[in-house]
Amino acid sequence: MTSITCIDDLRELARRRVPRAFFDYADRGSYSEETLRANREDLLRLKLRQRVLVDVSDRDLSTSIIGEPASLPFSLAPIGLCGMQHGDGEILSARAAQAAGIPFALSTMSICSIEDVAAAVDKPFWFQLYVMRDRGFVRALIERAIAAKCSALVLTLDLQVLGQRHADVKNGMTVPPEIRVKNVLDIMTKPGWAISVLRGKRKNFGNLAGHVKGMESVNSLAHWIAGQFDPSLSWKDVDWIRSLWPGKLILKGILDVEDARVAAKCGASALVVSNHGGRQLDGAPSTISALPKVVDAVGSEIEVMFDGGIRSGQDVLRALALGARSCMIGRAYIYGLGALGEAGVAKAIDIIRRELDVTMALTGTRRLADIGKHLVLDEAR
Ligand SMILES: Cc1cc2nc3c(=O)[nH]c(=O)nc-3n(C[C@H](O)[C@H](O)[C@H](O)COP(=O)(O)O)c2cc1C
Repeated sequence: MTSITCIDDLRELARRRVPRAFFDYADRGSYSEETLRANREDLLRLKLRQRVLVDVSDRDLSTSIIGEPASLPFSLAPIGLCGMQHGDGEILSARAAQAAGIPFALSTMSICSIEDVAAAVDKPFWFQLYVMRDRGFVRALIERAIAAKCSALVLTLDLQVLGQRHADVKNGMTVPPEIRVKNVLDIMTKPGWAISVLRGKRKNFGNLAGHVKGMESVNSLAHWIAGQFDPSLSWKDVDWIRSLWPGKLILKGILDVEDARVAAKCGASALVVSNHGGRQLDGAPSTISALPKVVDAVGSEIEVMFDGGIRSGQDVLRALALGARSCMIGRAYIYGLGALGEAGVAKAIDIIRRELDVTMALTGTRRLADIGKHLVLDEAR
């Protein structure tokens, strides 16, 4: 573990330990991956101001996220199929988040179910919802999230139709999943992964299997899911969700100011500036370039979160400097999960925490509330 010093190290270890099809599923983006790359490149373009001789002892990284106390200004983003990066991946990630004092968001498309995760952690977690055509099923999912005492519902808005990831098609990560000789051979070279997944509670979509009639196999469920994304989804459905979900609501997948203005009027606690980690609309702007416009338009009305491309504490500081109240990290923790299971997620969180702490010190900042645009050099903005 001592040789792991940054998120890239975790990525490299995950690349060696996780079968190619599942590693690529996590790592890659849609179509030409223009937006995936832009998320990183535009973050790195923001240069930070080095300040000296400011008393930066007693730094404080704690905050609150939608009113919940958090030890760090970021949460773990909802990620489908965590349990295919490492057996019981959702439970392990939720535990690591809980131990670090930050929120964990469970995806609709998880391997472990809402109930599995609720039984494995003591603190409430967030549940991410995809609105499916089968609204009865959506209602039931919301009721299950209420019964599991989830503290927020993250409603994802940017996946009404699926962007194509070329790597997934080439690797057979399709509907139905293709069993290819090369994948079987690849799995044979990853025994640690195979044991962890075989020992895991489930090998299917935990929130769906057993809850959709007649869809028991992975194949039939994958077909059902593919037909369930709903292109007719509209803001009216958000009102409907609101009427069913009494708790805090987070609207995820806002990139445009016009949408942000509507989102701010929906009675949600927060919105997430997100382009699904460059996995949906290829050609869309990077999230960091969209963030300041959204913050200017609605930052005084609704809590603005940010995700896309965060691989370091420096990146978290960049996003906070441009007005995000908190961030979500996606791949950064998924690499940790694939590399080392729960310890790897904990490591990813710790790496980003330490980097953020040092970056605050070197920019002359003691508190998160003191982070602002003044920390980013003008010419870089
Ligand atoms: C492998 C993978 C699966 C994802 N699955 C979901 C999902 O089920 N629901 C969702 O709202 N977002 C999902 N996302 C998007 C993330 O929540 C988040 O927006 C994105 O990962 C942020 O970008 P980053 O990975 O560069 O940090 C997924 C992202 C990845 C990489």
